[in-house]
Amino acid sequence: MSKKVDCSSYSTLLFASVVFSSALFVACDRSIPKIQYVPDMADAPTLKPQENYLEAPEHSVPMNAFLYPKTVEEAEANLKNQLAPNEKTLAIGERMYNTYCIPCHGPQGKGDGSIVDVYVKPPDITDANYQKRGDGLFFHRITFGANVMPGYGHATTVNERWAIVHYIRKLQGGVK
Ligand code: HEC
Repeated sequence: MSKKVDCSSYSTLLFASVVFSSALFVACDRSIPKIQYVPDMADAPTLKPQENYLEAPEHSVPMNAFLYPKTVEEAEANLKNQLAPNEKTLAIGERMYNTYCIPCHGPQGKGDGSIVDVYVKPPDITDANYQKRGDGLFFHRITFGANVMPGYGHATTVNERWAIVHYIRKLQGGVK
């Protein structure tokens, strides 16, 4: 025997189903904001991928910063070789030059290294023009490279690069 249910129960059920289905509808429409149960995290300022985090205050300097000129012109105008050109420094410079530079620039810096037949021929970095150039030009080029020339900042220490600059001066006809 079926149980009798009064009409108010039916209307309650109907009401509940309307509310439930409209809630589903709302949940599917992404243009309507969802209910936020704990909004704190969602409303916090967030960083998008690749976005810069804190803007540093003007003129502030990072701790342990290596303040370095941005362009080769600035480097040439402002940087001086910080090492004394003694026998030890020149030996380090020679070893480094013969490790990293010789394949392209050649043993005497004339731009006649062993790979120039298949690669771009570098300039003679011992000619009169380069003798007049500042230490910073060489340091900057060794650190960051120049067009098709790769940089060696990742492979050498600051002092090793300055030692290479002394060695280039030696190849140019004397340490100046
Ligand atoms: C893979 C070959 C290659 C290697 C290795 C290489 N160079 Fe170069 N270098 C070049 C080429 C090519 C140029 C000319 C780049 C240009 O201006 O297009 C050049 C240019 C230069 C210049 C002149 C830059 C200017 O602004 O006039 C200097 C100085 C120099 N190299 C020094 C070095 C030193 C020192 C090393 C070793 C630490 C080195 N290079 C390693 C290929 C090389």
